[in-house]
Amino acid sequence: MSNPELDVVEFLLTAKTYSRDKSLDVDDLPPSYRAAFWSDGQIERPLSTTTTAAREATGVEHPWEAVSELMFTDRDDFSGTIDFTDEDLAEEWIRDRLTEERLMNNPTLAAQYEDDFEGVDYDIARQTNRPARADRAWIDSLLEEYFDEEEEEEMLDLVEIRAPEEVDITLDDLVLTQEQEDEIHKIVKAIEHRDYLAQIGLREIGKLLFVGPPGTGKTSVARSLAVDLDLPFVEVKLSMITSQYLGETAKNVEKTFEVAKRLSPCILFMDEFDFVAKTRASDEHAAIKRAVNTLLKSIDEVSLIQDDVLLIGATNHPDQLDAAAWRRFDEIVNFPKPDAGMRAGILEIVTREMTVDDFDPAELADMTEGLTGSDLRLVLREAVLEALTEERTVLTQQDLKDAVAEFEERDNLKDLDMIEGDHDALIAGGDISGGSDGHDHDH
Ligand SMILES: Nc1ncnc2c1ncn2[C@@H]1O[C@H](COP(=O)(O)OP(=O)(O)OP(=O)(O)O)[C@@H](O)[C@H]1O
Ligand SMILES: [Mg+2]
Repeated sequence: MSNPELDVVEFLLTAKTYSRDKSLDVDDLPPSYRAAFWSDGQIERPLSTTTTAAREATGVEHPWEAVSELMFTDRDDFSGTIDFTDEDLAEEWIRDRLTEERLMNNPTLAAQYEDDFEGVDYDIARQTNRPARADRAWIDSLLEEYFDEEEEEEMLDLVEIRAPEEVDITLDDLVLTQEQEDEIHKIVKAIEHRDYLAQIGLREIGKLLFVGPPGTGKTSVARSLAVDLDLPFVEVKLSMITSQYLGETAKNVEKTFEVAKRLSPCILFMDEFDFVAKTRASDEHAAIKRAVNTLLKSIDEVSLIQDDVLLIGATNHPDQLDAAAWRRFDEIVNFPKPDAGMRAGILEIVTREMTVDDFDPAELADMTEGLTGSDLRLVLREAVLEALTEERTVLTQQDLKDAVAEFEERDNLKDLDMIEGDHDALIAGGDISGGSDGHDHDH
């Protein structure tokens, strides 16, 4: 239940407490509060509680109006600052209204009230609060400090950096195989206990290679790990590394790793990893070969334990990777096409926000052998659009069945084309249907 009055008073009290108590740091502020106060990579005390800051932090459109009726609030018309006229009164008022849930989402106040509320624990609240180094503002300020404007622009052509808050997918949106779940669990534990691993000298850890046909969730899992672990996500477009206008390719590779180490802890995601093998095998330009060698060397030198960088590579073409590339990963995670059970699960997830009459995911799963998660999304999209042409927003099982049939028809057409055309649509893992390569996998 939203309560604008309480939201704004909580914000004011938090700002006051934080400004006063120097033992608290930025990780004690809720992320939305920090967003209102970042300036040049810093949050300076005292926090100025302007209406603008209050609006940004709480999402309350008219913060002053929300609290103007209370006896203990006042606004300075000149500076636009909202303040308490009587802090004791304010505290008394809020103490009756605070809940365990609110406090556990606000470490600053949890520190203040942990003795007064059952179930409130400051240490846990702080641990579960998203750390400041995952904030977009923090990431930007680091990059700014490290690269001049021109360099930064070049950088951004090469890598795409996302704060966890900017990733729109979570592990809950994905249906994983048991093996994938186990691998993820393992890596989460390794990150949690990296001090211990360093101590016992286990350094060869934290380099994963995701292998599987297009549209099986490799990119999605990597991204949702960023959300799950509250880490910035640095995605490298390997094909961009060789781009002419980016100048020295080997240097670009080095820069990429510099950025990752700079932003660490973070996830460094390298898609199209087979690109490395391809370039090694062909007689490409010597500069590109140098770049690939630099890449392999950089991979050797980066470590989860020492640098807090989790490296994830992904490829559709494991057959093209040579031993030199394989050797660099300590875990290979297989992304097979989903089986019937997984397909049903994926269909349930993608229809979560829709109404489908007579919905029977198991029946659809039986009809969609060989389709990937990405294919199933396309099927759903087709069904939705088709229904919209009849002004319907409620779908039926039949709509979905029709969309499956249509999808397969399109797939057959494409297969014909594949036989005629000459290209390297190699399908990973001896795939039987050959169905999904080349589809639009964009989100
Ligand atoms: N197992 C799955 N569960 C739920 N959704 C899935 C699954 N696999 C794929 N999808 C959906 O399919 C789309 C494409 O997935 P994604 O881009 O992660 O595939 P990919 O393996 O990285 O493909 P590519 O090799 O082409 O890069 C996403 O929208 C994703 O949510
Ligand atoms: Mg991908």
